Amino acid sequence: MNDIIQVEKLDVGYDGIVVLKQLNFTISKGDITVILGKSGCGKTTILKTLLGLIPPLSGDVAFFGEKIDFHSEKVLNKLYQRIGVLYQGGALLNSLTLYENVALPIKMQHPELPPQIEREMVYSRLAQVGLDESANKYPAELSGGMRKRTALARAMIMDPDIIFCDEPSAGLDPITAAGLDVLMRNLRDLFGITFVVVTHELRSIEKISDRALVLHKGRIHYFGDYKDLFTLKDPFIDTFFMKGEDHDY
Ligand SMILES: Nc1ncnc2c1ncn2[C@@H]1O[C@H](COP(=O)(O)OP(=O)(O)O)[C@@H](O)[C@H]1O
Ligand SMILES: [Mg+2]
Repeated sequence: MNDIIQVEKLDVGYDGIVVLKQLNFTISKGDITVILGKSGCGKTTILKTLLGLIPPLSGDVAFFGEKIDFHSEKVLNKLYQRIGVLYQGGALLNSLTLYENVALPIKMQHPELPPQIEREMVYSRLAQVGLDESANKYPAELSGGMRKRTALARAMIMDPDIIFCDEPSAGLDPITAAGLDVLMRNLRDLFGITFVVVTHELRSIEKISDRALVLHKGRIHYFGDYKDLFTLKDPFIDTFFMKGEDHDY
């Protein structure tokens, strides 16, 4: 089966206020799906829900064909073995070197692994993002783009099927952001990793998106092939693409 995530009639809210309403969508294996929408529309909330951090008010989520019970720690732990996350801002620990940051998920999930195997895993991931020669540096010694690449190496360390990225290009200049996009596309092409990328920045993701989900006022405004967005002649989407997020619709 090609759909590795299936979401049906999903409602999510905080303190009784419904933020996401009746979402239906699927994520296909090997696709880069981008979730678009202006600030505060619920993009991060979708990711947190898929990660089991916010239990849905109603509706179903299935991963790899199996409906997820978000209240079961056992189910979530099994799921987390197959998922990597690049958090908004990167979330590296400043007191740890790049090596130590990337090794963290191994130390937490597989403390029994021999140091030599851990070393090989960490160095191979750092090499894949072009940072193996910076393994002993600290995050403060790096550019913003290098920090994001380190966070990507950490998200990939356990060989996940899916990587969720929350605003990966935030704070990067356009050239560095484009470089990060090419890196994600290459990782998809080489390893078949499925990416779900949340962003309010259109420019950076145009070259890598296969599918797009546009959120507006808590509902799905569009879900389909990314390229078809441009032939829709939809006023909201036209405004969003022409003017970016800082406008009233
Ligand atoms: N922990 C929370 N408690 C209450 N409301 C929240 C919380 N997190 C987010 N929200 C609200 O949910 C809505 C969606 O937020 P979020 O998913 O962070 O948006 P985005 O990532 O698209 O900017 C916003 O109105 C926000 O104020
Ligand atoms: Mg957000």
